[in-house]
Amino acid sequence: MRKLGLFVTGAVIWGMLVAARPWTSPEIEAKIDQIVAGLPLEQKIGQLVQVSWRNVEDPETLVREGKVGSFLNVLDAKTARALQEIALHESPSHIPLIFGLDVIHGYRTIFPIPLAGAASWDPELIRRNCRIAAEEATAEGVHWTFAPMVDIARDPRWGRIAEGAGEDPFLGSVMARARVKGFQGDHLGDANRLVACAKHFVGYGAAIGGRDYNTTDMSDWTLRTIYLPPFEAAVEAGVATVMSAFNDLNGIPASANRFTLTRILRQEWGFQGFVVSDWNAITELINHGVAGNKAEAAEKALRAGVDMDMMGFAYSDELANLVRRGLISETDVDQAVRRVLRVKLASGLFEHPFPDEDRAKRVILSPEHLEAARQAAREGIVLLKNEGNLLPLSTTGLRLAVVGPLADDRDAPLGSWACLGRPADVISVLAGIREAMPGSDVAFAKGCAIDSDDTSGVAEAVKLAAQSDVVVLVVGESRRMSGEGGSRAFLGLPGRQLDLVKRVVATGKPTVVVLINGRPLAIPWIAEHATAILETWQLGVQHGRAVADVLFGMYNPSGKLPATFPRCVGQVPIFYNHKNTGRPPREDTRWTSRYVDAPSTPQFPFGFGLSYTKYEYRDLKIEPTQIGPAGKVHVSVTVENVGRRAGEEIVQLYIRDPVASVTRPVRELKGFRRVHLDPGESKRLSFELGPEELGFYNVRSEWVVEPGKFEVWVGPSSAEGLHGEFFVVD
Ligand code: BGC
Repeated sequence: MRKLGLFVTGAVIWGMLVAARPWTSPEIEAKIDQIVAGLPLEQKIGQLVQVSWRNVEDPETLVREGKVGSFLNVLDAKTARALQEIALHESPSHIPLIFGLDVIHGYRTIFPIPLAGAASWDPELIRRNCRIAAEEATAEGVHWTFAPMVDIARDPRWGRIAEGAGEDPFLGSVMARARVKGFQGDHLGDANRLVACAKHFVGYGAAIGGRDYNTTDMSDWTLRTIYLPPFEAAVEAGVATVMSAFNDLNGIPASANRFTLTRILRQEWGFQGFVVSDWNAITELINHGVAGNKAEAAEKALRAGVDMDMMGFAYSDELANLVRRGLISETDVDQAVRRVLRVKLASGLFEHPFPDEDRAKRVILSPEHLEAARQAAREGIVLLKNEGNLLPLSTTGLRLAVVGPLADDRDAPLGSWACLGRPADVISVLAGIREAMPGSDVAFAKGCAIDSDDTSGVAEAVKLAAQSDVVVLVVGESRRMSGEGGSRAFLGLPGRQLDLVKRVVATGKPTVVVLINGRPLAIPWIAEHATAILETWQLGVQHGRAVADVLFGMYNPSGKLPATFPRCVGQVPIFYNHKNTGRPPREDTRWTSRYVDAPSTPQFPFGFGLSYTKYEYRDLKIEPTQIGPAGKVHVSVTVENVGRRAGEEIVQLYIRDPVASVTRPVRELKGFRRVHLDPGESKRLSFELGPEELGFYNVRSEWVVEPGKFEVWVGPSSAEGLHGEFFVVD
């Protein structure tokens, strides 16, 4: 919430955010004072050191000597308990350890990857999934998750697009809030709540060329408008920790960037928690070329605002010396320690430091959790094409051929960062289909591997397809092809999978292509020739059941794309909220912003997704049609289900400010609603637009609402919608 509005030359400037302190208290602050006063320097520094349990030789001794305040990658309750016993009873300070882990989309019950979660446009669902992940992880002694990743990603070559909410700052902010609230709950101190961590601060998703860890370079406008909002939303939602990123941001690496880590995060947003570096990111300041050695790296990072060093060993090796040499003051160290202790105290670590193995037995993979995972998986699926209403299929009287290297794969659906998820827990697409068609003989052939040149299985698969009534063809990526270090230069199907698709389609049998992948793909041939396409991403342990639910119409697909699908890699980056340019693309002339060898439109736009029913939009109303800069308009629309099946539509509202002091995007998402409609049912939905939605950062980085016309669209995607307008006047 931007507060403190003031009027300047007909515009409203929205000033700094008022500090949010959702989880600390005077008692906690007093306790921090007391602990810090009694700690010698070495013990203080220990609180700022995080090491990976499986990557150090003698973790017990480190704890016993007070040289570590946090572990990551402790993967079982027994180890967590043993280390915590040492910290509490044998370490000099008796301060509990905080155990961190990448609980990104589930702990053992694996939910859809965050990109698929965003495709549900259902923050309540996401919140519940994160609550469940917290319930399972905390029972085994995990206190802190390195999630949510709230990096905006406009480049699908970047493998980590899988870990976030896609390309849009508005949807990204909604999802960031939902995830933080889901992990942390309303009361961070409860034993079944996980401390969340908004990462990677900031700009990591804008890596040049989509190559992981690469440099980012962007204008202040882009930083503030596109990349910062989900972090701000996470801070507003009370996130207790933030992770500083690997990347160089405009010449100052994110883990040495005082402007972002202190000026924006703490001074503008009032963040009260602590900042942990990404893995070895402090020591990598040497590679970036802003520090000559580890001591300089430690000094820069601490001064910039990084409180805890994850696996860089820069603080453990250098901080004490830096203090002795007078290059860092002990007060600066104290400040970082205070922040770490604040989170340790607020999260209830002192009251319940140990795992709860009994609870673990009850909750992990419980029927309730699996049911939630199935619901989440269904909602993440996006129907991209459905020619002649081939889908849904009948479960009886149909000879079905299930083909493709991912059809019976139980690994890929787990996606990257699957935490403790196991392939054995996963229902494959084939298993899901067979379960939905008891008594039917569902034929299966793999056809080819995900990523090899071997085509020896293709003939058999084609033969099977030719003998069937309908083919379900499951293709895509392995889980190593996205996530960290999973950047791709090509966005088509790897290996010989497209050959398999072409041969199967050539049989003339109606073909449903089911995609399993961690990013938008470039699939022009499939988009044109397949009869139906389901984008199923990586949906977690219930992947196959959810796909069967959609294939056979037990669930009417409702997902919408959280990121644009390009037609080819050359279009990348391609995103819906681009600027208009001086020469917007026109196909009838060369001298506009376009390609000579590809259209400028995407294959599938942001927000797109079909359903088994039809929704009609009508009666768009905007009231009043004139407001002052601080005023609000109400936008309402009627949506009717004019088809024959019940369904849920995601109604999206976009705006455009066509003339302003700085150029504005051609469309920006500013609201959405998920609405359930029975056949024949209609609902009137309303949205409110005020300074928060209508404003933007001007050249002085002030939030302003400028007078003039505003355009509005309400519709089913970023490329459609009913259109209206209103005016902001002085
Ligand atoms: C990743 C982080 C992750 C950390 C700890 C890093 O390599 O960039 O996202 O939280 O490792 O596993």
